[in-house]
Amino acid sequence: MMDSLIVIKREHRNLYRVVHLLDALVRDHKEGSVLDLDLMTQIFEYIETFVDRFHHPKEDRYLFARLRQRNPMAIAILDELEDEHRSLPQALARMRATLEELKAGKVGAEARFAEQVADYLRVQTKHIQKEEGVVLPMAQNSLTEEDWAEIDAAFADNQDPLFGHEARKEARTLFHAVVNAAPAPYGLSG
Ligand SMILES: [Fe+2]
Ligand SMILES: [Fe+2]
Repeated sequence: MMDSLIVIKREHRNLYRVVHLLDALVRDHKEGSVLDLDLMTQIFEYIETFVDRFHHPKEDRYLFARLRQRNPMAIAILDELEDEHRSLPQALARMRATLEELKAGKVGAEARFAEQVADYLRVQTKHIQKEEGVVLPMAQNSLTEEDWAEIDAAFADNQDPLFGHEARKEARTLFHAVVNAAPAPYGLSG
């Protein structure tokens, strides 16, 4: 498999894990456990930095851009996914705002937060499924060797702010902060 596809799939697995953790924490809270607000903030920090600043732009700029040129059948689903790349950060901003209201003890904030988190999990999961189930196989069938060489080279460029060493380090640090802070069974041992 192409190096860039391995990176994208690994990033999806990490994101999936963090979004599931978020949802599990909120569901546990409904059943009586205390909501760890700092951990919530760390999770949002991770999603914002890693997914919205690094992962989605990487997909748009290289993989999706090439696939648009090579396979017209992909255009509709790529439009949809790029719309989600714009709407998911807005959904995240709404969750962050509701978390602030929840911290301030605003009436109704808790129920709204739970709804927003469940909705975010649903949209983000479907988004990943569309990419892995439809777009990545399409890319594997439609892109040329030269395309992959270009995409892989971009992903391997250590100076690049989206793919480079610093970006990877930042994402790793945030990811480890989240899994370290997560309670059993969701944390490192989970
Ligand atoms: Fe995406
Ligand atoms: Fe993705």
